[in-house]
Amino acid sequence: MKKLLFILLFMSTTLFAQVKGGITVPYIDFPMKEGKGMYSTRGKCNMCHSWGYTLNQGLQSKKFWREKVMKMIVVFKAPIKTQKDIDTVVNYLFENYGNGELE
Ligand code: HEC
Repeated sequence: MKKLLFILLFMSTTLFAQVKGGITVPYIDFPMKEGKGMYSTRGKCNMCHSWGYTLNQGLQSKKFWREKVMKMIVVFKAPIKTQKDIDTVVNYLFENYGNGELE
């Protein structure tokens, strides 16, 4: 019993260890370009990771964006259910982060 108490005491002291002052986790906001479908895309694409993931791709073709969106849906189960919603997101991406190429 004493041993158990000792272990518990030991564990709790390390759990509540020793940081003086607050810890601030940096919050980096990636602004989205204003455009048709922005709110829908924001809701659908920023729930698992930041917009930075998307911005990092640079300007891309429509095909590229469509494939990315499909990858998110098929591989990671992004909840984008209808063809209309897929088109809204792909069009927003292409209109605002497109390179002008369809293919
Ligand atoms: C259900 C969660 C989820 C949603 C919703 C989601 N993603 Fe992702 N996304 C991921 C995961 C998981 C990764 C891979 C992270 C890693 O490899 O570190 C990822 C990675 C990415 C990448 C990096 C390149 C790559 O191919 O892995 C891009 C670009 C991207 N997502 C764009 C989008 C866009 C655009 C949307 C909206 C259509 C979206 N994501 C919605 C989960 C999601």
